[in-house]
Amino acid sequence: MNLVERPPAPPVSTEGRVPVFVPYVGVDTLKHLTDALDVGWLGMGATTKEFEERIAAYLGLRDRYVVCTNTGTSALHIALLAAGIGPGDEVITPSFNYVADHQAVRATGADVVMCDIHEDDLGLDVASAASLIGPRTKAIIPLHFAGVPCRIAAVHELAARHGLRVIEDACHAFGTTVDSAKVGSAGDLQFFSFDPVKIITSIDGGCVVTSDRDEVERLQRLRLLGVDKDTTLRYQNKRAWDYDVVSEGFRYHLTNIMASVGVSQIKRVDEFIAGRRAVCERFSAAFEQIPGVRVMRRDYADVSPFIYSLRVPARRREAFIDHLAARGVDAGIHFVPVHRHTYFAGARRTPMPVTERVVGEVVTLPLHSLMSERAIERVIEGVWSFFFS
Ligand SMILES: Cc1ncc(COP(=O)(O)O)c(C=O)c1O
Repeated sequence: MNLVERPPAPPVSTEGRVPVFVPYVGVDTLKHLTDALDVGWLGMGATTKEFEERIAAYLGLRDRYVVCTNTGTSALHIALLAAGIGPGDEVITPSFNYVADHQAVRATGADVVMCDIHEDDLGLDVASAASLIGPRTKAIIPLHFAGVPCRIAAVHELAARHGLRVIEDACHAFGTTVDSAKVGSAGDLQFFSFDPVKIITSIDGGCVVTSDRDEVERLQRLRLLGVDKDTTLRYQNKRAWDYDVVSEGFRYHLTNIMASVGVSQIKRVDEFIAGRRAVCERFSAAFEQIPGVRVMRRDYADVSPFIYSLRVPARRREAFIDHLAARGVDAGIHFVPVHRHTYFAGARRTPMPVTERVVGEVVTLPLHSLMSERAIERVIEGVWSFFFS
């Protein structure tokens, strides 16, 4: 294929709009893709294994293991099942989180119970979660929102006191460090997403990290139709014909083709994160003095930033977003709190005052891995011209 002979794609034009997300897909990714296609084994195989090994190496895992899946949502679904969660159980997670988590909990037959968040890191409020623990509670899912670490040590202490599993939603935090160790390298279970807009993408994809070898086997069966002892052969681009099916299972595996995109991306992850950190620090330096505006962080040294989230006065948010749009700068909102969605309306059990306030204030500004200087300036100019004119 001469796809790879193409010159590098030009940076996304900032003459028109500045999108919230711009996935980086360069010639290096095309080369990995065409090489993977040439192998002739498109399904889960050796490249899936290579991606898992590279994730483990990047996260600095010791006696911890990676199981790749086709999405972050499926990663959480099988992590919950592998942890033994099912009908009659309860799992606590913030309402201020992506609905994927709440859906994955419900898919196991368990009930999702929503807690509040802390004002500063917008991560799970440990006291709020503690107040919701009852005899049916089995697990807590804290989120590292925007890549900023939540109070994970306190979550683990709480969980240990009550014998609960902790399944960290690390979908925003691939490369974030806590006490100099990458999220995923310690703790209980974590899951990541490699969806199209994440720091690294495999188009769609995800993974679970665990230190329990039995859990690894359960996860491997759950991701591929409950088939036993199939992974070793698949990882050699082969299939077993005398397999047994020993549990429930799904078609949640990551294919060689998707994994090849992930491999190309993880090779450049440090470059992507460094670029994003530098942009976030410039944004925070530019915005922190604006009266009424709140930045999450000034220093991003330990953060692998997935999005740049800013808080503005709630009564001015709509006008602010319109103002940016008129200048060609897109903005997003993370998140609509899940308890406000129809399907989850009845799941609210406790007041969530911080969540209720914050969701009216948050605005997600454009942040790209290789963001052009012009795009950065347009975002800063867009924000300043709203507050200073
Ligand atoms: C916080 C959070 N959790 C879970 C997910 C689900 O991941 P995926 O889209 O790969 O299924 C996402 C993806 O957007 C996310 O942002």
